[in-house]
Amino acid sequence: MGHGCPVHLLFTPGPRDRPPCAVYKPRYALLQTALCIAAFSSSASLWDALKQQRNVRKSRPMIRSALMNVMTAAAIKAGRGLKRDFGEVENLQVSVKGPGDFVSAADRKAEQTIFEELTKARPGYGFEMEEGGTVEGSDKTHRWIIDPLDGTTNFLHGVPIFAISIALEREGQVIAGLVYNPITDEMYVAEKGQGAWLNNRRLRVAARTRMADALVGCGIPHLGKAASHPKFKTELAMVMAHASNVRRLGAAALDLAFVAAGRFDLFWERGLRTWDMAAGLVLIREAGGYVSDADGGTDMFAKGSVAAGNETLHRELLGLLRTA
Ligand code: IPD
Ligand code: CA
Ligand code: CA
Repeated sequence: MGHGCPVHLLFTPGPRDRPPCAVYKPRYALLQTALCIAAFSSSASLWDALKQQRNVRKSRPMIRSALMNVMTAAAIKAGRGLKRDFGEVENLQVSVKGPGDFVSAADRKAEQTIFEELTKARPGYGFEMEEGGTVEGSDKTHRWIIDPLDGTTNFLHGVPIFAISIALEREGQVIAGLVYNPITDEMYVAEKGQGAWLNNRRLRVAARTRMADALVGCGIPHLGKAASHPKFKTELAMVMAHASNVRRLGAAALDLAFVAAGRFDLFWERGLRTWDMAAGLVLIREAGGYVSDADGGTDMFAKGSVAAGNETLHRELLGLLRTA
């Protein structure tokens, strides 16, 4: 079968459909050829063959790059510990002292595991970590950005919505991101130019374009950030007056992953740190979404704020925040 075959012509994938894998092309060509033969030599209709090929594509597992293998291995190892410790938190809830110290220890332990795993795999890379701070590497072009436990308050209260967030920056640009919830075993990964994935499923941001249909995630400044409450309240009131509804998960890395997965149409938050956002930003971009700071600029890390969604709704959200 050559290029004239309609199955090849109709389902030769574009670059955005391809997983980051060198062995992909030959395998795909084989599959296409088999389908061509099936379509024309058996009694099955061409339509059935095409549908079958689509299903095979959907269920085909993603093949990870060496870099992503390193990142996922570190997250899975640290996630195992966090999951075990989360089980303990429930027992500690009833004690007078509460689980505060235990959670801090779990947080630090997870970060240590990630640090050790990544250092073993990529010696020389630098680190920016929530707990351990900055560690300079001999390789000045690479830096890991890590939040070992995003959603600490949820974890502390026994709410199973938290995640590990790992991002890799190369020459000041975030080129890979991972967000992993060990309780649901949902692993969101993205590499620049290679798409975003949830486990083996390719991600796209939601396609809704009407603000009145949009589910919007946000972050509420906690008690210690009382000075930020008035601004947040006016922004929330503005969004509530236009969007379908609003959610507050309590884990910014997961909020951003939810936008990448099309679960949330939009998300905005101020008062964030680099490690809350870094992995999520690349997930959203690779899922075809738009990200900016909450004022519409590109200074997410410097300003500590983010607004994200598809092109149309992102623009509308920025308009609402501007007028709030
Ligand atoms: C927090 C969460 C939360 C956001 C806070 C963050 P932590 O991170 O992402 O959703 O509202 O601003 O500090 O402390 O749980 O790692
Ligand atoms: Ca965080
Ligand atoms: Ca944290």
